[in-house]
Amino acid sequence: MIQLLQTGILNESLIQIEWGNYTQSVAAIHRHLENSNSEMTGWLNSPIENNVELVNSIQQNAYKIKMLADVLVVIGIGGSFLGAKAIQDALTPYFGDCANGIEVVYVGQNMSGAYIRQLLNSLEHKEVYVNIISKSGTTMEPALAFRVLRQYMEKRYGEEAQNRIIVTTDAEKGLLKAIAEKSGYQQFLIPANIGGRYSVLTPVGLLPIAVAGVDIEKLLAGAKQAAIVLKNENLDQNEAYRYAVIRQELYKKGYQIELLASFEPGLTKLHEWWKQLFGESEGKEKKGLFPATVSYSTDLHAIGQFIQDGSPIIFETLLHFKEILCDYHVPFDSENDDQLNYLANYSFNEINAISKQGTAMAHADGGVPIIQLELERLDAYHLGYLIYFFMKACAMSAYLLQVNPFDQPGVEAYKKKMLQLLQE
Ligand code: PA5
Repeated sequence: MIQLLQTGILNESLIQIEWGNYTQSVAAIHRHLENSNSEMTGWLNSPIENNVELVNSIQQNAYKIKMLADVLVVIGIGGSFLGAKAIQDALTPYFGDCANGIEVVYVGQNMSGAYIRQLLNSLEHKEVYVNIISKSGTTMEPALAFRVLRQYMEKRYGEEAQNRIIVTTDAEKGLLKAIAEKSGYQQFLIPANIGGRYSVLTPVGLLPIAVAGVDIEKLLAGAKQAAIVLKNENLDQNEAYRYAVIRQELYKKGYQIELLASFEPGLTKLHEWWKQLFGESEGKEKKGLFPATVSYSTDLHAIGQFIQDGSPIIFETLLHFKEILCDYHVPFDSENDDQLNYLANYSFNEINAISKQGTAMAHADGGVPIIQLELERLDAYHLGYLIYFFMKACAMSAYLLQVNPFDQPGVEAYKKKMLQLLQE
């Protein structure tokens, strides 16, 4: 379960929140969210609903893929990519294979010719499955990558290619759906009322991460717990809504950038997922906090100077998992040439936790408001909880800002220009 430490703000003197001013608006938005069946709010209750059949089908397919392939190539972009990659990176080993999974690689998030050529080269001696994920079925980056991968699979596997391609797309419409039907590919369906960046807990995220070896039942159990706990319209008791209100207050005070920071490199892609969630949901009508991310210690030696001492436009959200299951103790060295024996009683994770504490204190002293989000353990359950927490907080936050959390009209602009140039 998430704990928002110290009523959320480490250095409370920087910002005092009149929580009472938000009670009514938060409750009203809460009711609007919970009752708006026509909106894109299918993700709100989906973790609570009975999804045994879907989970079984995903598990069976993941099992088959793991038996018949060495690598799953996942094609997708934005909400059809970031969530799966985020969970995979957070919960599978840094080096080598995951005991319960196979290699899962991603394509369709860039237009790099080098990337796609090298990906195809890397498949040469491996058995391959492909999962194309696109809700609209028309996004150019994944559509182009699918054209290449489909031809590759047909050339390599002949008729058998049909069984090795799985399509995840809209339940009712789209080009990709038509292709899947025509070619007889197996399909996983994305509910019409769940948009890309809110879809990680649907087959969009669940199939790739199950293949990567993550326990999707635990992930969904964490999300379910969050969906139950965060169904409370009372601002005092709803951490997601408190986080949304703190963001809103800081925005009103003139802060322009929220920096999500954590101390575990495996969370870097989770940062990216969060960035997309908040960036696409809030950045519209010339409003919104700019969501940026840092991974410590790396970025303490890159952008730490600016955070500590630069323009005072940043506040920081520190994400911390109290327990990371894998650790290493600092060895004692009888020579002590490097004079580090004073650390020999610590493990690396302990030092990392102290480094987090020190960083928070230093940045707070530098005048940076700090929000602290703390979870018990880095595992599938707590990650499921966190993902749901962020989605719920994001929807509340966008509505407090009076923008629609579920559209992304600005994304169309670059697509139109690109198409125009390509057609010329
Ligand atoms: O959040 C969103 O809706 C977007 O980021 C989409 O996920 C992204 O544009 C990809 O769209 P699609 O799945 O239709 O290819």
